[in-house]
Amino acid sequence: MIPRTLEPEVMDGPEQCRAYAEADFATPNAAFVERFLATFPELTRGHLLDLGGGPADIPIRLCQALPDVRVTGVDASAPMLALAVEAARDAGVASRLTLVEDQLPCSTLEGAFDGLISNSLLHHLPDPNVFWSDVVRYGQPGAAFLMVDLTRPPSTDEAQRLMQLHSNGEPEVLRHDFYHSLLAAFTPDEVNAQLAAHGLSGLNVAVISDRHLAVWGRLTG
Ligand SMILES: C[S@@+](CC[C@H](N)C(=O)[O-])C[C@H]1O[C@@H](n2cnc3c(N)ncnc32)[C@H](O)[C@@H]1O
Repeated sequence: MIPRTLEPEVMDGPEQCRAYAEADFATPNAAFVERFLATFPELTRGHLLDLGGGPADIPIRLCQALPDVRVTGVDASAPMLALAVEAARDAGVASRLTLVEDQLPCSTLEGAFDGLISNSLLHHLPDPNVFWSDVVRYGQPGAAFLMVDLTRPPSTDEAQRLMQLHSNGEPEVLRHDFYHSLLAAFTPDEVNAQLAAHGLSGLNVAVISDRHLAVWGRLTG
């Protein structure tokens, strides 16, 4: 297994943000929302927190699927949030989707949430503990939790193969980011160790594709 290689944490290059927001993540993002709805069918109202929400495609889809749910999306990138604000307005969900510029560990957010979601944030963080600390801090007891992230392949050759397979034809900036994100990602064993360190061993961890893992369950508080 290759060691983890960090990539830049915050995505704040305007060209990088635009390319990311314009990329077609419809299939994985719809799958994230379907997984959330199938896992927590009883959650039809309340307030969700999306950590590292980026251009907000997933929270927008959640707002559309759950008309009595509000979402707060947090991201450290001002250009990414500007794209998110535009997308929320265009989708007609701006009144239920609050977008906050903050960097984990969050310093401006208050309150406890009924559910926490996060897609493709964990691998950006030099120290993953800031993510799990905020999960514990902002999830109320019994809160729904779903995270999906990349998982690190065993070799750089495999990372190259996955990059060719899944981002063929994408702009170079996205191919570059995808390859380096794979090298920065965590293995399921590493994620399990992180969960144990934060009292979150009750959550489920599973590899769900050739490049993704998911963590889900109810937070015990
Ligand atoms: C790969 S994008 C994923 C965006 C979104 N969740 C999605 O699925 O499209 C990762 C996002 O996390 C943000 N990010 C990285 N480190 C962060 C931190 N410490 N706090 C908040 N956001 C962060 C980046 O700016 C970027 O927008």
